[in-house]
Amino acid sequence: MTREKLRIGLFGYGCVGQGLHDVLNSSRGFKADIVRICVKDKTKKRRIPMSNFTFDKNDILNDPSINLVVELIDDADEAFNIVTTAMKKGKNVVTANKVMVATHFRELVDLQEKYKVSLLYEASAGASIPIIRNLEEYYDNELLHSLRGILNGTTNYVLTKMHNEGMDYNLALKEAQEKGFAESDPTLDVEGWDAKYKLCIITGHAYGLFIDPEEVFHYGISKISTFDIRYAREKGFKIKLVPFVGKTNENTITSFVLPRFISSDKYLYNVDNEYNGVITEAAFADKQFFSGKGAGGHATGSAVLSDISANSYGYKYEYKKYQQGTVSEYTRNFKLEVYLRYRNEKDRKLFGLKDVSEYFSSKLYKYVIGIVNLENLYNLREQLPDMDVFIVNTGRKVKQ
Ligand code: HSE
Repeated sequence: MTREKLRIGLFGYGCVGQGLHDVLNSSRGFKADIVRICVKDKTKKRRIPMSNFTFDKNDILNDPSINLVVELIDDADEAFNIVTTAMKKGKNVVTANKVMVATHFRELVDLQEKYKVSLLYEASAGASIPIIRNLEEYYDNELLHSLRGILNGTTNYVLTKMHNEGMDYNLALKEAQEKGFAESDPTLDVEGWDAKYKLCIITGHAYGLFIDPEEVFHYGISKISTFDIRYAREKGFKIKLVPFVGKTNENTITSFVLPRFISSDKYLYNVDNEYNGVITEAAFADKQFFSGKGAGGHATGSAVLSDISANSYGYKYEYKKYQQGTVSEYTRNFKLEVYLRYRNEKDRKLFGLKDVSEYFSSKLYKYVIGIVNLENLYNLREQLPDMDVFIVNTGRKVKQ
């Protein structure tokens, strides 16, 4: 297959932009020209000559010689503006912006069709793990039962440090920020938003449904305490933030993001620090496990490079599961067993836990393990930030 000569216009030169630059410079097999880099901050010192940069997006968008736009900026609204303008001008686009892809998914799929351009975003979910391309190409005809994993490097780093070294939550988060894993606004990481956006993107390729992230329940790790870590340790578990999407019947799926207990015999147990891990369960391939670095400039840059290279061969996502249309419904009517650490009885009552199997009460904290309906958790989502509680999915199978 012949490769098209790529002339790239790059937006953003932060952690991932610089990572891509390094990765491109060290790549032997593949060369692409970064013609121009558009950045916002005029005062920032750059590590390459200023002649490479522009502050005007039109210098890239209106340059007919640039055939690929690589978008790696932080601001999702501005990214959407840049990406859609580029697509409408017939340029192919590679992006790592999960917020933008997840919140405009359907529209971006339609624009690709309308303007006959390709939009690739492997780096947006799981960074270095090629999960989107796997779902598109390998699982295109598989009956996928479920997909779960660790999709956020920052929270995994924090949880690893807390569990393995007894490190304080805030200190661990500060380290994750210093290492360039966290979002500029780290609440996106610790409250589970980032993992949810990635899960929604994956869902589009795994099941062909472009779900509005607002419809999906997410809960992060910001309320975790040393009690929860101690409980997990005593039982031989680690706590990981684990997004899940899976079938509830032939044509229906559910999804959510929740911390989960992981026992030492499970794949995800040893996925530590900024690593991500994805487990797929399918009818024929059975169980598969993918792991790799989920955050950081070079890891993310490697996925962007892979998309740039795929682009040079004319690769496009075909959205095969969407074309097949076998899954058509989304439900939150799904029972889960959870550990609920709480302080006030009135909070506990709101969860309406059934089939309680464990209960503990002391002056310092209380916990209960029981069954809750996902719909109920979703309905409590506005109140949860004000409650002194922490929720963990036990991961045990529940009769639906
Ligand atoms: N903040 C993200 C994470 C970066 O920690 O996973 C990679 O998407």
